[in-house]
Amino acid sequence: MPLTATRPLLVDATAGGTAVAAFNVITLEYAEGIVAGAERAGRPVILQLSENASTFHGGDPRPITAAMRALAERSAVPVALHLDHVEDVELLHTAADAGFGSVMFDAGRLPYEDNVAATRAAAQWAHDQGLSIEAELGYVGGKATQVQSAHAAGVRTDPAQAAEFVAATGVDALAVAVGSSHAMTSRTAALDHDLIARIAAATDLPLVLHGSSGVPDDDLAAAVVAGMRKINIGTMLSVAYTSAIRTALAADPAATDPRRYLAQARAAIADRAAAMFHVIGRPTPTSS
Ligand code: G3H
Ligand code: ZN
Repeated sequence: MPLTATRPLLVDATAGGTAVAAFNVITLEYAEGIVAGAERAGRPVILQLSENASTFHGGDPRPITAAMRALAERSAVPVALHLDHVEDVELLHTAADAGFGSVMFDAGRLPYEDNVAATRAAAQWAHDQGLSIEAELGYVGGKATQVQSAHAAGVRTDPAQAAEFVAATGVDALAVAVGSSHAMTSRTAALDHDLIARIAAATDLPLVLHGSSGVPDDDLAAAVVAGMRKINIGTMLSVAYTSAIRTALAADPAATDPRRYLAQARAAIADRAAAMFHVIGRPTPTSS
């Protein structure tokens, strides 16, 4: 199947009242596992590479992105590529050539007016390249590289400010702060579903949930009903991947062939991803 752009996936999700799962890719095995999970569930998927993951790959996203693109092209389900949490404008400007269909420009750590100005410039550039762009309003806590003091814990996106931000910047999707936090390894976050619905009504744009690994299944399903259209999932895949490797090496401490334990890690990613498609696609207990 040819590589898909992000925009039509979000349009379809909006029309169907559902959401697209966007999983973070760190190594090739993540991408292989995620696509296998999407194929098992029969659902489109977004493979996303963060600025941090690009840094891990030496600051050049092109080699891993070329592999992600090849997987998309042979996939049985639609796959889009997204460059996530970009703060470095130089990296942003590699996005089109690297094959990404969308970018998330992350100026959420900046004061509001500076966030608007930087995001508007990024949106103009992205649209000139034919890319769609997501931006962030209100800090989604927990990213180690962000300046904690600039964003008090518990901050929430204000619906009126969100509407103003969308009009001022021209972005295509909006990441909002509604109770989730990045990099949680326990699923104990509590989302404000009423706030999600109010932001959705105020902006009429696809809303994006970051830090979804820390959100319980029922809460995630309810967030989709309230208006979330892209669900970003990273940490829970890394937990599954690392735990599979730990188990494999404990069972065979003399192992030296990485294919043995990486195959199990990749399978763990596929299982976790497949399970999340069912969570995101199912109705909430109250609406069924
Ligand atoms: O942009 C990526 C996500 O927000 C991932 O968050 O690692 O907490 O699931 P997570
Ligand atoms: Zn995020």
